Amino acid sequence: MKKTLDKCDLFIKGGDFLDGTGRPSMKADVAINGDRVVAIGIVNVENPEQTIDATNHMIAPGFIDVHTHDDRLLLSNPEVTPKLSQGVTTVVVGNCGASLSPWLSNFPPPPPLDLIIPSDNESYRFPTFSSYSEALEKHPAAINSFSLIGHSTLRCCAMKDIDRPASEPEIKIMKEHLRNSLQEGAGGFSTGLFYQPNKPAPPSEVEALASELKPFRGVYATHMRNEADQLLESLDETFETAKRAGCPVVISHHKCQGSGNWGRSIDSLARIEKANEQQEVSFDVYPYVAGSTVLLEEMISSSFRIIITWSKAFPEAGGKDLSEIAKEWNCSVEEAMSRLQPGGGIYFSMKNEDVERILSHPMAMIGSDGIPHDVHPHPRLWGTFPRVLGHFVRERKLFNLAKAVNKMTGIPATNFKLHDRGILKEGSFADVVIFNPKTIRDCATFEKPIQKAFGIHTVIVNGAIAWVNGEGTGSRTGCLLKNPVCN
Ligand code: ZN
Ligand code: CU
Repeated sequence: MKKTLDKCDLFIKGGDFLDGTGRPSMKADVAINGDRVVAIGIVNVENPEQTIDATNHMIAPGFIDVHTHDDRLLLSNPEVTPKLSQGVTTVVVGNCGASLSPWLSNFPPPPPLDLIIPSDNESYRFPTFSSYSEALEKHPAAINSFSLIGHSTLRCCAMKDIDRPASEPEIKIMKEHLRNSLQEGAGGFSTGLFYQPNKPAPPSEVEALASELKPFRGVYATHMRNEADQLLESLDETFETAKRAGCPVVISHHKCQGSGNWGRSIDSLARIEKANEQQEVSFDVYPYVAGSTVLLEEMISSSFRIIITWSKAFPEAGGKDLSEIAKEWNCSVEEAMSRLQPGGGIYFSMKNEDVERILSHPMAMIGSDGIPHDVHPHPRLWGTFPRVLGHFVRERKLFNLAKAVNKMTGIPATNFKLHDRGILKEGSFADVVIFNPKTIRDCATFEKPIQKAFGIHTVIVNGAIAWVNGEGTGSRTGCLLKNPVCN
């Protein structure tokens, strides 16, 4: 049926349309008024304010990057170019137990918190979630954000020494900070139980905090205690903790790490499916065989390559292989790493078969896990979404385009309870990406990681054009999205 409108602010015509649910594409025009979609289908607009010709392009909901560390980037680079350039219109920040707020500690932030909280300057210190959200409201970013509160951040607020389980009074303080943050709109809670500041926390401590989520319908996301030899045990711990706390859980960057664990995604995915029958479970994944984090001696292995992403002691090491540096210095790789500290690395610790199996799983969401302040970042920061659509969909044909977009839009919006986003329908927020499915590809590589992707035509955030012709427009219409109770 043909719809006719007198006018609208923005009229996208001539393209193929994907709604984000996984349903196949259809020819459809999209009319936008203010920050909302007002018509989809065969639409005739007499006097549109502005028209975009989307011929030969796909019109889809803006991508939701469910796993990011963009807490500070939203303020320091409000254009959020690494993400906007990929078609991302919403980022979930505060993952892996590390959030920028609430920060009350006088100590320098321990790794990996130093990835987002600068250790050598006092700016970007937010004692409450509301002070962070107010800064974002005062200086809006180009894209939307949704915040998790990190367990490591909370531990630094409440404890003087974080190398032990928290005491009852300390748990009480952390619960208060978390509850206040949720009341102020934070969307959930995250752990990074693999990392030193979070590792000493037993499941009971995590459960006590995660149980604050229920009244706010908040989400618990976890970088599990172990993604290598104890992968399955860590999954069980995760399900058990979330079940006791009565909250939905997201397994962050699901992977099988280390050559001894390659192939175990068959078992891990089966376990996730089974748990999902009893409770709300979901997971995200990035489309690469290498991970990236701070420099950790326990991650050194003779079976895979390590690239240095940054080093405070030797900034020029960024981009070099650890083994080459060790050779140059005539020392062991362990010794070289300790001289480079503090710093970060890229670890080629996964197998392609597992990555493809996890990506292809119908429940999988896409999350970049990009680390935005690294000198020589992992290419996932700039390439994740176009890499899925170009390499894994068009070239490898792992799944179809509608399903791929669903993993980046509809599924995340459902799991994170993002109201009126992720699925394009009449009345929803106008977060839209227009891309060329025949040419879209990632350009960022391990050698040259800072590269805009190819094939993104236009990105629209809350009804405003934020990216067109390979450039940001300077538009700053991103909103802080709140949990469904505060919304
Ligand atoms: Zn992580
Ligand atoms: Cu992460």
